[in-house]
Amino acid sequence: MRPFLIAGNWKMHMNAAETRAYFETFKGLVSAAPNGVSMLLCPTFTSLTAAAEASAAITGMHIGAQNLHFEDKGAFTGEITAEMIKETGADHVIIGHSERRQYYNETDETVNKKTKKALSAGLTPVVCVGEFLEERKKGIHFEVVKKQMVAGYEGISADDAKKTVLAYEPVWAIGTGETASPEQAQEMHAFIRAEFTALYGADVATKIPLLYGGSMNAANADELLSQEDVDGGLIGGASLKPDSFQQIVGFAGEIFAKNG
Ligand code: 13P
Repeated sequence: MRPFLIAGNWKMHMNAAETRAYFETFKGLVSAAPNGVSMLLCPTFTSLTAAAEASAAITGMHIGAQNLHFEDKGAFTGEITAEMIKETGADHVIIGHSERRQYYNETDETVNKKTKKALSAGLTPVVCVGEFLEERKKGIHFEVVKKQMVAGYEGISADDAKKTVLAYEPVWAIGTGETASPEQAQEMHAFIRAEFTALYGADVATKIPLLYGGSMNAANADELLSQEDVDGGLIGGASLKPDSFQQIVGFAGEIFAKNG
């Protein structure tokens, strides 16, 4: 069985002091990730250093940014480079989250450039894809996700693809309390795995962790994570509470211990 990655996207929450307090509490709940599980938390840029320092004593905890620029330097007011992110101690970066696609004109092309930049800088990209509700209603959700994937990974070698993480986040499930059913999640993840197989072959496709995101919480995580092609979660709201994040990590550990 593939190892799990349980990731939290804090979005625009948690300043540096709150971040330190979170990890203080979390450390009391989990001092090391369970066997077969990695953990990742992605705070805002200004809390990255605090997160990296405060989480250093937690085995299996990684820190990631929520965005990066694809250039190395220049006149890009308000932007942050891959090297700046690495300097904080972070080793992952979320790319192409639907909120960035919706509100900040992120496109498949910028997702592709950012993914390449993250890879060349040695950061693990967490590439996000997912359809809108209207697209699912029209029955074109597979097509939409395939297009995002193919464009996002254009020109990326098999060796590099192996170093990425992909998160499927149906937009209709983000922050709405409405989760994809375990069957819907599994169906899309199996489709994504098959597309990766077509692009890179089965050996690479089986190695890319596929995370589900969209209203995952301690009440529904067990069932979602039990699906064959769901290798973890990208969790928004529920990752802001140390105890609910810890519970989800615990479920992943139990599933791995049972099947791993
Ligand atoms: P919620 O878990 O709050 O629905 O957010 C999901 C998400 O967008 C994670 O990136």
